Amino acid sequence: MGIKEKSIDLKKRMKNALSGGGEKAIEKQKAIGKLTARERIIALLDPKSFYEYDLFVEHAGKDFDMDKKYLPGDGVITGTGTLSGHPICIYAQDFTVAGGSLGWMHAKKITKIMDHALKLKVPLIGINDSGGARIQEGVNSLAGYGEIFFRNTLASGVIPQISVILGPCAGGAVYSPALTDFVFTVEKITKMFITGPEVIKTVLGEEISMEALGGAKVHCETTGVAHFYAESEEECFNQIKQLVSFIPWNNINKAEKFPKKSPKTKRYKMEEAMPADPKQPYDVRNVIKAIVDDSDFLEIQELFAKNIVIGFSRINGETIGIVANQPLYLAGVLDVDSSNKAARFIRYCDAFNIPLFTLVDLPGYLPGVDQEHAGVIRHGAKVLYAYSEATVPKITLITRKAYGGGYIAMCSHHLRADFVFAWPTAEIAVMGPEGAANIIFRKEITTAKDPEEMRKQKVKEYKEKFANPYVAAAYGYIDAVIEPNETRKIIMHALDISKEKKVQTPMKKHGIPPF
Ligand code: HXC
Repeated sequence: MGIKEKSIDLKKRMKNALSGGGEKAIEKQKAIGKLTARERIIALLDPKSFYEYDLFVEHAGKDFDMDKKYLPGDGVITGTGTLSGHPICIYAQDFTVAGGSLGWMHAKKITKIMDHALKLKVPLIGINDSGGARIQEGVNSLAGYGEIFFRNTLASGVIPQISVILGPCAGGAVYSPALTDFVFTVEKITKMFITGPEVIKTVLGEEISMEALGGAKVHCETTGVAHFYAESEEECFNQIKQLVSFIPWNNINKAEKFPKKSPKTKRYKMEEAMPADPKQPYDVRNVIKAIVDDSDFLEIQELFAKNIVIGFSRINGETIGIVANQPLYLAGVLDVDSSNKAARFIRYCDAFNIPLFTLVDLPGYLPGVDQEHAGVIRHGAKVLYAYSEATVPKITLITRKAYGGGYIAMCSHHLRADFVFAWPTAEIAVMGPEGAANIIFRKEITTAKDPEEMRKQKVKEYKEKFANPYVAAAYGYIDAVIEPNETRKIIMHALDISKEKKVQTPMKKHGIPPF
């Protein structure tokens, strides 16, 4: 064969390999609102930037007549491309080929692209759409998963790892996404569980649909496994693009710098963001938007543990990670879920050199038997650990309440915040005035002629003494009490002056966080 004939032969082979699981399987995929694996990659990446590898890889199954079967690309597409101009490595499981099930060669394609991503220090995106371990390949499929999990762990904190769940992700397969940094889901398409409805019915006699067991809403609202919820694949891809615009491409480089923009002050007014009545809830996101560039705030895990808000913004064109108590929900308390949510995000920001900006307004950790028995002690400790461990610039703003353990945990000076600012509305105390007065003035209140009047008077006395920022400021625990309208200016300055921050920590292999 001459070069011309060989080129024709190559095209024929490529056509065959690119056909996926065939028209019928592709039609089935489309009928439920799913794109094919290749279409997904093309839709997500910059136009014409995708290069595919290992197209001709064949599966290694021998049993159950598998040796007679041809599985194009062994059910997974791998390659490199660019996203908003930056290089990335990507893989997408092809459900049309043997249900995207993971056999040994399928896994080898994935681990090869993972190795590339780690070596080249570029982000890794994995699009999951698979029936799990390929049953016919037995232990080799399990070995494949093990190799993936090991690499997920190795790459953790070195390169961003993004998982997109666009179909079933069943059995042990769920643990690769669970080891990555951000998990994206789509309504009616994501189905993620360890044991499916049929096993649950057989073993426990309980009936549940796949959606109710492991759909997008469940993982975004209830389990906290996922970070982003979308109603279509297109919306999901836009969310991914937005996220990657904020994060650094590895743990050495900084995130892309954008032109500095003022907040949209006509819409988000600082003086209106917090109500005058200290008991009235407010949406902390309006305070954030009144401070950050272009009022642009990308919220992460928006639907889970709503009493804490986490996400990315920019100040002076540079990415910051924001952690804020949300007085709209449960008065912004720290509990099991919100502690987990905050702690993981703090560690992400620290690993990728993203400065932390913390907004404080909370009455403390949530009391109650449920919380105690759910382990609020060990989960709550994660916040203390994560903030203490973080060596990135840490700037804190106390807007209103900072009571008890909440004051310490939300990046106080004692956990080595670089700067702690407070508005004049801040109240820094061991506990709220009502509770405190009832304890320390119990005798005076119970023996008074009019106990209720005495209680009111003592609460007032306590408030005057402690419910302000000045006692803490007198000890130097607050660096400056600032006018709310001055906030953006001083946060910009604090971030700017902390740019070259370097911290020497004691030599150790690694700490033992309260996982
Ligand atoms: C081999 C599989 C497969 C699998 C699906 N297929 N899952 N082949 N191994 N795990 C094949 C089907 O045989 C079928 O092939 C094609 O994929 C499409 O599957 P359907 O069942 O027709 O599709 P659908 O009705 O949409 O149902 C999708 C599904 C279902 C819900 C994912 O296929 C399913 O329940 N699969 C098994 C899920 C599971 O229990 N996985 C866990 C495996 S154990 P044909 O040739 O007919 O088109 C595991 C442990 C890993 O993952 C542990 C790691 C630590």
